[in-house]
Amino acid sequence: MMDLTQYPLETLAQQVGTPFYLYDGAILRERMAEVAAATAGASLHGRYAMKANSSRYVLDAAREAGLWIDAVSGNEVERAMRAGFAAGHEPPVIMFTADVFRDNALDAVVGHGILPNIGSPGMIRELHEAGYRGPIAIRVNPGFGHGHVEACDTGGPSSKHGIWYEEIEAVAALAQSAGFPVVGLHAHVGTGPEIGEFDRNMSRLVGVFDDLLQRFPDVTSVNLGGGIPHPYRIEGERYDLGGYRTLMLEAASTLSEAAGHPVAIEIEPGRYPVAGMAVLVARVHDVKETRTNEKGPGHRFVMVDAGFNDLIRPAMYGSYHEISIVGRGASRTPEPLVVAGPLCESGDVFTRDDQELLVPRALGRPEPGDLLVLHDAGAYGAAMSSNYVSMGRAAQVAWEGDRATLIARRESLDDILRMECHEPL
Ligand code: LLP
Repeated sequence: MMDLTQYPLETLAQQVGTPFYLYDGAILRERMAEVAAATAGASLHGRYAMKANSSRYVLDAAREAGLWIDAVSGNEVERAMRAGFAAGHEPPVIMFTADVFRDNALDAVVGHGILPNIGSPGMIRELHEAGYRGPIAIRVNPGFGHGHVEACDTGGPSSKHGIWYEEIEAVAALAQSAGFPVVGLHAHVGTGPEIGEFDRNMSRLVGVFDDLLQRFPDVTSVNLGGGIPHPYRIEGERYDLGGYRTLMLEAASTLSEAAGHPVAIEIEPGRYPVAGMAVLVARVHDVKETRTNEKGPGHRFVMVDAGFNDLIRPAMYGSYHEISIVGRGASRTPEPLVVAGPLCESGDVFTRDDQELLVPRALGRPEPGDLLVLHDAGAYGAAMSSNYVSMGRAAQVAWEGDRATLIARRESLDDILRMECHEPL
C-alpha cells in the first residue's frame, strides 16, 4: 500500500481539485521491472495488458521496462503505437486479442500488420475478407478458470472468451484453408484469482497446451494470459513472481521439446504492474446517518466527492479497496462507517460486497473537509471511469520522488459536449 505521508495530498487537492488519481512513478517502474525480470531471457516474453490502465505515462513505463503489449481494441493498438511500441509481427510487439472486431480493429490489424489473437471462429473469415494475409494466434477456452468474481472468470462453459478446446481442431482447419499459419496459442482464464488457484490453473494450462501443440507445427509462442494476483487487503500476501518464472521456464523447455523447435512462453498481466501504484483521493463533504427500523439496520455514511464514475470496482464487483482518512478523523477510534459518493444511485458506495450489501468499514470518523483515500486504484480505475451525470473524469497526477506532474486534467463540460452534433444522415 502507498505510504500517504510521502505525498503533499492537501496541496495537490487544492491545485487540481478532488477527486483525483495520484500515481507513484517509482512504484509503477518497480512493478513493471519485476514483470520484465520474471520474463527475462530468450524463451520468455512479458506483455502489459494495457486495458488495466492505458495512460501514456503507464505505457511509457511498460515500454521502458522492455515489455510488449496486449491490446484489445483498434484504438488500444493505435494508442500503443503512439506511445512508441512497434507495429508488425516480426516480432509481434503488439498483439491484438478479441472475440469481436469492432470499429477500427480490423483496419488496425490489417493496416499495421498486428498479430491477431482470435477468440471466435468467424474472425478467420472476417480477417480473410479484409485482405489480411499473415500469421494468427488462437485464444483457447480450456474449460476451466477462475476470477475474483463470476464476471472475471474467463474460462469454462459460461465464458464467452476464446475457442472451446474441443473446437480447436475445426478452427485449425479453417485457419489452414485461409492460409494463416497459427504461430501462437493463448489462454487467459481469469483475473484476480486467489494465489493458490492461479498457480494451479497455470500448471494445468501448460498441460493443455502440451496436448494441443501437436496439431500446430508453426506455433512459436504460447501465452498464459494475465491474472497475476494483487493483494488488495493490508494483510494480503504478495505473489511470488520467482515461482512463476520457474514454472514458465519449465513450460518453455517442455513445450519446445514437444514441438521439436523453440516455443517461447508469454504472459500479459494488467493488474499486477499498476494496481498498487495509485490512489484515488476524495474530499469528505459530510457525515450523516440513517436509523434502524423495520426495514433494516441504520448506518453512518461518510459522503465523499468520488463516485463509481471514478472507480467502479466496488459498485460493479463488490471489490475491496483499503481506505485511509487524512485529516482530523485519522486519529479517532475506528467505528463502522459506510463510504458513499455523489451519484444519484444507492449503489454508489465504496464499502459493499458482491451481493450488493453494505459492509461498513472501521475508520476514524472524518470531519467535512478531511481527505479520504481509496488505495490500490491503479488497475481498472481511471480506465473504467465514465462521465456519468456529466461529471468530468478525474484529473491524474504523477508523483516522481519529490515533485508532481499533471498527466491528465479533469474532463470539462466542453470535453463532454465535443461529440454532440446535428448532422443530417
Ligand atoms: N489478457 C486478457 C486477454 C484479458 O482479458 C485480461 C483482462 C488480461 C490479460 C489482464 O488480466 P489481469 O492481469 O489484469 O488480471 N475490470 C476487472 C478486470 C477485468 C479484466 C479483463 N481482462 C476488475 O476491475 O477487476
